[in-house]
Amino acid sequence: MAHISDLIATDIAAYLKQHETKSLLRFITCGSVDDGKSTLIGRLLYDSKMIFEDQLAALEADSKKMGTQGQNIDFALLVDGLAAEREQGITIDVAYRFFSTEKRKFIVADTPGHEQYTRNMITGASTADLAVILIDARRGVLTQTRRHSYLVSLIGIKQVVLAINKMDLVNYSHEVFDRILGDYTAFAAQLAIERIIPIPISALVGDNITEPSGNMPWYHGPTLMAHLETVEIARMAREAPFRMPVQWVNRPNLDFRGFSGLVSSGTVYPGDPIKVMPSARMSRVARVMIDGDLPYATAGQSITISLEDEIDCSRGDVMCGAENPAEVSDQFETTIVWMNDTPMLPGRSYLLKLGTQTVTASVTTLKHKVNVNTLEQMAARQLELNEIGLCNISLDRPVAFDAYAENRDMGGFILIDRLSNETVAAGMIHFALRRAQNIHWQAVDVSRTSRAGQKGQRACVLWFTGLSGAGKSTVANLVEKRLFALGKHTTMLDGDNVRHGLNRDLGFTDTDRVENIRRVGEVARLMADAGLIVLVSFISPFRSERQMARDLMPAGEFFEVFVDAPLAVVESRDPKGLYKKARRGEIKHFTGISSPYEPPENPELHIDTTRLSPEAAAELIVAQLSARGLLQGDVA
Ligand code: ADX
Repeated sequence: MAHISDLIATDIAAYLKQHETKSLLRFITCGSVDDGKSTLIGRLLYDSKMIFEDQLAALEADSKKMGTQGQNIDFALLVDGLAAEREQGITIDVAYRFFSTEKRKFIVADTPGHEQYTRNMITGASTADLAVILIDARRGVLTQTRRHSYLVSLIGIKQVVLAINKMDLVNYSHEVFDRILGDYTAFAAQLAIERIIPIPISALVGDNITEPSGNMPWYHGPTLMAHLETVEIARMAREAPFRMPVQWVNRPNLDFRGFSGLVSSGTVYPGDPIKVMPSARMSRVARVMIDGDLPYATAGQSITISLEDEIDCSRGDVMCGAENPAEVSDQFETTIVWMNDTPMLPGRSYLLKLGTQTVTASVTTLKHKVNVNTLEQMAARQLELNEIGLCNISLDRPVAFDAYAENRDMGGFILIDRLSNETVAAGMIHFALRRAQNIHWQAVDVSRTSRAGQKGQRACVLWFTGLSGAGKSTVANLVEKRLFALGKHTTMLDGDNVRHGLNRDLGFTDTDRVENIRRVGEVARLMADAGLIVLVSFISPFRSERQMARDLMPAGEFFEVFVDAPLAVVESRDPKGLYKKARRGEIKHFTGISSPYEPPENPELHIDTTRLSPEAAAELIVAQLSARGLLQGDVA
């Protein structure tokens, strides 16, 4: 590797040491290939000499062969070449490149600029301290410039370099530069960007990249590289209140218990009073350690802390400076960037990961989505891939957090699909909703077990799912009659009926079905709390919501019955004439025809209605319930 430092050859240990102690700037470049982004990154890599020599030789040969830049080197070939190399095999969302100068190390996130790559840009920006926004001097501030700037400010990047590129193609005009800067500053005033450094450059020719350009005597600011090398970073993180999300509890022997994690902000000294959130238990720091004891530790270090008292603290808790602890809540206003092909549906439950805490979450309200090109707010019922929305979310238990604007680690989260395990969204907490703080759990003395015991049974939910016309209600009805005859206390929730009352405001879009099942799941739980055997008969087409209903019940008290009949069969039965209407296009979003049905993967019982009569099915179900002990009383 060719590097400017001679130390590599003479004193490798000294070189590595120097390298290790250099600060690291992470930045993202925003712009499209047309703006000269690849050329710019290629030039930064080339000028910092962090290119393998054989790559360099190939680049010179390629440039001459392709003739894209006459006899000059085409830097874009370098970056595009690296990208192609990386793209073999696995797809990666963001290309990160590393380079280094004598003063600093750099990691640059390079993401495509088009709207369909919004999620890649958000991913690349999420760890960046600074953004370089590229503008083609001939074209000025474009829609995409506004979009990139909005996303950059959304993700909390406060420093922007406005690199006005291709100055050579506008005769190095001061006037053009000023006009673009004026347009941009006017637009950026509505964003939370604190500092804009405009630099006129030509990535192709090399003006103001590493060397000040002789072509623009009117420009007195730094070169791009000089700015990147000297811009101040990470001061905020050290001065902020102390936070360390606990990654694991380290207990090598009975005499020592250490809490390990990455300090996300602030500084911690032995003797400091700390509070462990969310429990708010207090203690003092006894020791701060990495390999041995440290006098103190600060943001960015992975450390182990031991405390003066034996207090309860485990993975997911956050150690905080006692005077200024993190907040705790289970309901928030947030901005969510949706990153998955399956849309975000309010009411659906996802896993939420914030620092080392993982909880179950759902969007309770989608207030509006944002047009990323115009920043306009638009009404929406769901978020599609790459869409951004303002959402209230609700968690199944409180977490420790700070507002994203204060601390990106403590206020930034991801959402994970519970079935596929994919990361489906990135989110930012604005603030906790006060409503949540005023509603508490009221303890009751008579439990669901005692209510059920009094009835000589165990409470449970029998969940019938299947296509319309499969026979869910028919079978459920027969089961209820049998249970009733056995002296059991039951109730029935049937889709058609509930949709006449509680759910009469809901239709059949995906969003409405999610809400339909969410409400019925909650009602089924309440009924089971009353000690009843609850029969639920809804199409309930989505796995995710059936799982949600299951999760509301204690293990073993949710019994899913898949009432299975092929589409051709239910369509020929068509008891309500709905399939015919759906085929004629008179009913939209009809399950099986124009809306999906996701069959259960592991139902407690799978009934093939083409082989089993409703009576036989009902008998089988009751026998199974009995075998599982669900029909006996006083089971703890
Ligand atoms: S679910 O999908 O949200 O679970 P639910 O069980 O409540 O559906 O309601 C289904 C019943 O509504 C069907 O049995 C049928 O009678 C009626 N229905 C009316 N329109 C539709 C539709 N578009 N898709 C499915 N069922 C419909």
